[in-house]
Amino acid sequence: MLSIRPMSPDDLVDILRIERKSFPHPWTREQILDEASRADIARCLVANQGDPPMLCGYIMAWLVADELHITNMAVDPDSRGQGIAGTMLRHLLSDAADEGTSWCVLEVRPSNGTARSLYEKHGFRTIGRRRRYYQDGEDALVMGVELGKNPFRLLTRD
Ligand SMILES: CC(C)(COP(=O)(O)OP(=O)(O)OC[C@H]1O[C@@H](n2cnc3c(N)ncnc32)[C@H](O)[C@@H]1OP(=O)(O)O)[C@@H](O)C(=O)NCCC(=O)NCCS
Repeated sequence: MLSIRPMSPDDLVDILRIERKSFPHPWTREQILDEASRADIARCLVANQGDPPMLCGYIMAWLVADELHITNMAVDPDSRGQGIAGTMLRHLLSDAADEGTSWCVLEVRPSNGTARSLYEKHGFRTIGRRRRYYQDGEDALVMGVELGKNPFRLLTRD
């Protein structure tokens, strides 16, 4: 059984554990706290699974004006391939659409085929490229989706 809820400060230890397993340059505790603590603009969700519930994934975003910017997302390696990221993404996009948000954008590595496939499946298209965006010099693809026209709105949230 998967449940999605807003992130809380108590989730930090589990988020850091997954972050460190998921990225070559993981965010620090301070970066995550900074990103999530802006109550006015932060839109951060976590996924829990099992009994007792264990945190298995998170998605972080900022909502500025009418644009949602996804800044981070990861699923515990042991829990991947079960639709958890897709479920978190649909919750986030659906909530943002309900708030009247027009656009969602994000950066993704061209080499991250798994994430690109996930985003494309949810209507995102590549709209730009930021040169040498990542610490190791890799470019970022900028992907975006217009929320009002996105077919995810027709899907029931699971
Ligand atoms: C990207 C990530 C969040 C996906 O999480 P997940 O819970 O395994 O993804 P889901 O099970 O919801 O998969 C959704 C879609 O992603 C794609 N996908 C998932 N696993 C994939 C794989 N191994 N290869 C290719 N595509 C894959 C598919 O399109 C899949 O849809 P489908 O199951 O209908 O084929 C996870 O792999 C991760 O944490 N990676 C490391 C961190 C990262 O890259 N974050 C994104 C930064 S932009």
